Amino acid sequence: MKDLTPPRASLDPIEIASRDEISALQLQRLKWSLRHAYENVPHYRQSFDAAGVHPDDLRTLSDIAKFPFTTKADLRDNYPFGLFAVPQDRIVRVHASSGTTGKPTVVGYTAGDIEIWAGLVARSMRASGTRPGDKVHVAYGYGLFTGGLGAHYGAEKLGCTVIPVSGGMTERQVMLIEDFRPSTIMVTPSYMLNILEQYRKMGLDPRGSSLDVGIFGAEPWTNAMRREVEEAFDMHAVDIYGLSEVMGPGVANECVETKDGLHIWEDHFYPEIIDPETGAVLPEGEMGELVFTTLTKEGLPVIRYRTRDLTRLLPGTARSMRRMEKITGRSDDMIILRGVNVFPTQIEEQVLRTAGLAPHFQIEMLSRGRMDAMRIHVEPLPEHASQDERVAQARELARHVHDVAGISVEVVVNDPGTVARSEGKARRVVDNRQKA
Ligand code: DLL
Repeated sequence: MKDLTPPRASLDPIEIASRDEISALQLQRLKWSLRHAYENVPHYRQSFDAAGVHPDDLRTLSDIAKFPFTTKADLRDNYPFGLFAVPQDRIVRVHASSGTTGKPTVVGYTAGDIEIWAGLVARSMRASGTRPGDKVHVAYGYGLFTGGLGAHYGAEKLGCTVIPVSGGMTERQVMLIEDFRPSTIMVTPSYMLNILEQYRKMGLDPRGSSLDVGIFGAEPWTNAMRREVEEAFDMHAVDIYGLSEVMGPGVANECVETKDGLHIWEDHFYPEIIDPETGAVLPEGEMGELVFTTLTKEGLPVIRYRTRDLTRLLPGTARSMRRMEKITGRSDDMIILRGVNVFPTQIEEQVLRTAGLAPHFQIEMLSRGRMDAMRIHVEPLPEHASQDERVAQARELARHVHDVAGISVEVVVNDPGTVARSEGKARRVVDNRQKA
């Protein structure tokens, strides 16, 4: 793999500023953001008043803990535009997150917000090893999802040639990568696996592709998956994080030279980690729920937004800004099996270390009498698909999961090609439990 460390002179000065400078900027911006929300969004005025706090009560950064949280329910209750802080004619774009049931959550951006977002995605791409002049294949979905357009504007801002493919039509994705020869691909990690499989089906060598960097996000993925994809394509695999409510992709990103967690772009987002049960702010380094306050957003400021993503905060390394560890999972995706908490990422790690298995998997939850059970659907690599090998693979995976997570699971090793493939965010858990 190439050394793609970006030249220091190409970084935004604030990325490598002192902690004091970063904190001073955060404090100034946080005061503005609280006031902006309070003065322009009835919901915030009511919730601050009800909690007995006022924007003037913030004197230091840690005073943020006095302010009430914002949740997805608050966005839903104010559907579609009730949390916007500027008149509608200043909103130049909306996005929405799918939401599995009912109404989506809608987010809005001013021209200034779009400009900052593009700048932060450009910064994220530069951290990933992409350079001005590179060709960038965007396979995140375009549309109400923030992935496609977010990546697109960032790539243009960095000075790249954007190839706006969007998701789906996997054979065509491969043809376009082969013909247009992009150096960077932006796609979900699960869809990248699907593209990898297509390469092999078409008899092409993925290691011979033009790709040097993959910027993967929108769903949890593990370091085991990173090794799998880096090895298969001879490319760097770098993690990008974000969520619609806070902005979209580009809230935090790994640096290609360290790949040790994601630097949070703290000049625009103030992170906290809280205990998801009590809401108390946890000391740095402890695992909990990630909470963000936007510092510069005009259209939709969010104050202490509960992401439900579980991670921990770590000090800066390649940049002065703090890192978050790779996301373990969402609290909503946590499976509680006979009293033990399990995340799909833990299963992913075990699938990837089991000899002869392909990296595709899905978790099915079932009822066995009055007990819950977990069945993991996997499939063998085509060259390891004999009956004997499948029996051994099933046993090995069940043993790994038992050793690591302490739970007994059923494993079904299906025929190659039968586990559901992803073209965007993978659906890792299917719940077939009988409803009481
Ligand atoms: O997924 C934004 C995005 C697009 C990020 C493209 C990165 C790349 P939403 O659809 O609102 O926005 O979903 C946000 O996805 O709260 C996490 O649970 C999950 N997520 C996003 N990035 C990562 C990541 C986009 N790198 C939700 N690792 C978030 C783990 C991620 N989970």
